[in-house]
Amino acid sequence: MPDLAYVNGEIMPIERAVVPIEDRGYQFGDGVYEFVASYEGRLFMLEEHLDRLERSMRELAFDPISRTDIRKAVLDLFTLSGYPRAGLYIQISRGVAPRNHAIIPGMTPQIIMTIRPVAEIPVEKRKNGATAITVQDTRWGRCDIKTVQLLSNSLAKQKSLDAGCDDAIFVSDQGIVREGTSSNLFIVSGGRLITHPLTDNILPGITRMVVQGLCRDADLNVEESFFGTDALLGADEVFLTGTVTELLPVVRIDGKSIGDGKVGPITRRLYDLLRKQAMADGTMI
Ligand code: PDD
Repeated sequence: MPDLAYVNGEIMPIERAVVPIEDRGYQFGDGVYEFVASYEGRLFMLEEHLDRLERSMRELAFDPISRTDIRKAVLDLFTLSGYPRAGLYIQISRGVAPRNHAIIPGMTPQIIMTIRPVAEIPVEKRKNGATAITVQDTRWGRCDIKTVQLLSNSLAKQKSLDAGCDDAIFVSDQGIVREGTSSNLFIVSGGRLITHPLTDNILPGITRMVVQGLCRDADLNVEESFFGTDALLGADEVFLTGTVTELLPVVRIDGKSIGDGKVGPITRRLYDLLRKQAMADGTMI
């Protein structure tokens, strides 16, 4: 099967899929998205991704669409692709209209999806850990909404690659450590796990939520609080979480080793637990 696309009800090879040039997602970044992955043919946390998609649309006052139709399209695309480890991208824009900053009422949201095999993180990074830089958080004030406006994220990611690292970690003007360019962040300090609270400044990550649950089940002390770069660089362990990232150790930040510079035991344990849960759960298709 080729990589496939879905455009407003129609499934086709990805190369054939096009959107109108006056789509507001294209001209204003007026769109929201989700990225869902499957493990051995089963979608992980699909309902949670659909919940967040609906929330993003509500927060931007998009006209509502049918969740049943979206779920059906997702499952059709997965089934047709046949990829056991698929990455499914869903994007919904407010609609198509002559270019105008003002929002015309009654637009029909445009729904597109693509499906490809997941671009896996190299095994060596998982085993030995990734490296990161910190960057100033120049994103807008509603990072809790999963919009397609990812220019700051993209530029920060590229900056990290140009610096010979794997990712960038956003830090606010006040020095608060927020999250990665496409992941949430946890530190481990003296056996305690800490992650940024859910505010307008980070995405409410689904993997973050799963990992918090795994911590509680494993009797690990996990809390949400603000912390700065000193706590980040002085942590025993640091890891990123996300749908593609899964749970990725970070062993060097801004040229400084985290802990002893090796992947720590809590990170390793949580990664194993996350993989186990991802393999066991999921929407059967
Ligand atoms: N990104 N924070 C940001 C800024 C993200 O873009 C993402 C996910 C996350 C992690 O969320 P989740 O665990 O629900 O995937 C946190 C997706 C994968 C993307 O942009 O493709």
